[in-house]
Parts: sequence; structure tokens; C-alpha cells
Amino acid sequence: MASGPGKLTEYHVGRCRLELVQGDITDQVVDAIVNAANSRLAGGGGVDGAIHRRGGPSIMAETKAKYPDGCPTGSAVITGAGNLSAKYVIHAVGPIWQGGNAGEAELLASAYRRALELAVGHSCQSVAFPALSTGAYRYPLSEAAQIALRTTIEFLRQRQSPPLVRFVLFDQATLNVFAEELAKLARAS
Ligand code: APR
Repeated sequence: MASGPGKLTEYHVGRCRLELVQGDITDQVVDAIVNAANSRLAGGGGVDGAIHRRGGPSIMAETKAKYPDGCPTGSAVITGAGNLSAKYVIHAVGPIWQGGNAGEAELLASAYRRALELAVGHSCQSVAFPALSTGAYRYPLSEAAQIALRTTIEFLRQRQSPPLVRFVLFDQATLNVFAEELAKLARAS
């Protein structure tokens, strides 16, 4: 557990709940699971590999048929979820970290916002996010966590939906960083 002083794993915005948990995102039973995709929507390792492995080939088949041109960085597209315990996979494309002066912060925020908009547009009651861009794309973790949480809280304040947003962090260290950033944002609000 990442509880204790300076850490927070749950936060409420009106009737919406933001949760932080440790785990594998493909185990989540939610309406939409967000994939950390690349702009060619070509599949890969990390979250992307796990989602296509567990979800089966229908996800890639639908992706290629519906989005043959891929998806720009900072945006997201939606497909069915194959064998996963979700209705949808939202493929969000975060930026590759290039040192911080290439618009990475705005592109990362935009990827989260677009994924949340798609979830609301498809009436999802619950959405699970990984820590976009913090693996193969090397975005510094604390900064990425702050952007992910701030963008989500702002979205929930404005839209009052989806009712549940859960960040599923792969290991305890990542959960701790998210829990510290969430506590800071809660103190500042
Ligand atoms: N569940 C939850 N989190 C996971 C899982 C999983 N099964 N597997 C990896 N992670 C974590 C990583 O530890 C990292 O913190 O998800 C975060 C995002 O890592 P990546 O999946 O590497 O995503 P990203 O950094 O956005 O890079 C995207 O990687 O797999 C390719 O096709 C993908 O080219 C794209 C790039």
C-alpha cells in the first residue's frame, strides 16, 4: 500500500473517483482499458504487447481496418477489447521524451484528455490508465505522473465523468511516485 504521510491513493472530484492501484492493466475489469500505443498503432512491448497478447488478434485487426493511417502523438483512438474483461481498448499515443523542449508536456496531457473524451463519448463508467510514456518512451516519472493526475482531475471537474478513473501502475515504486504527486495536487487544491 502506498498510504502514509505525503501519499494518497484515492481522490474524489464530485461523484467521480480517481484511484491508484498496483497491478497489470490487462487484469482490470473496467469498461475501457487504455493502451500505451505508438503513432503507427503497430503494436509493441510493455502495455501494448500485454494488451494484444491477452486481448487476442481481433484488436489489431480492428485497429488496422479502422485506423490505417495510425494516430497522431497526443491523440487516441478506440476499438473493441477482444478477450479482455473490458468493452473497449483506447489506444493513446503519448510523446517520446526528448528532453522536455519538444512540447512533450502538452502532448502527454492531450493524450490523456483525448482518451478521457473517447471514454465519455462511449458512455464508459470506468477507465483504467497505465502511466503513458513512462516506459519505452522514457518520460521522467514524477513529471509524467503530475501531468496524468492534473489533466484527469481537471477533466473530471469540467465533465463530472467518467465516474471511475483508475491508474494501474506496474510496480510499487511507480505507485509511490503517483501517490506522492496525488497528495501534492490534493494539498494544492
Ligand atoms: N500493466 C500496467 N503497466 C504496465 C504493464 C502492464 N501490463 N506493462 C508495462 N507497464 C508500465 C511500464 O512499467 C511503464 O511504467 O506501463 C508504463 C508505460 O510503459 P510502455 O508500455 O513502455 O509505454 P510507453 O512508454 O508509452 O511507450 C510506448 O512502447 O510498447 C511500445 O508500442 C508501444 O511504441 C510504443 C511504446
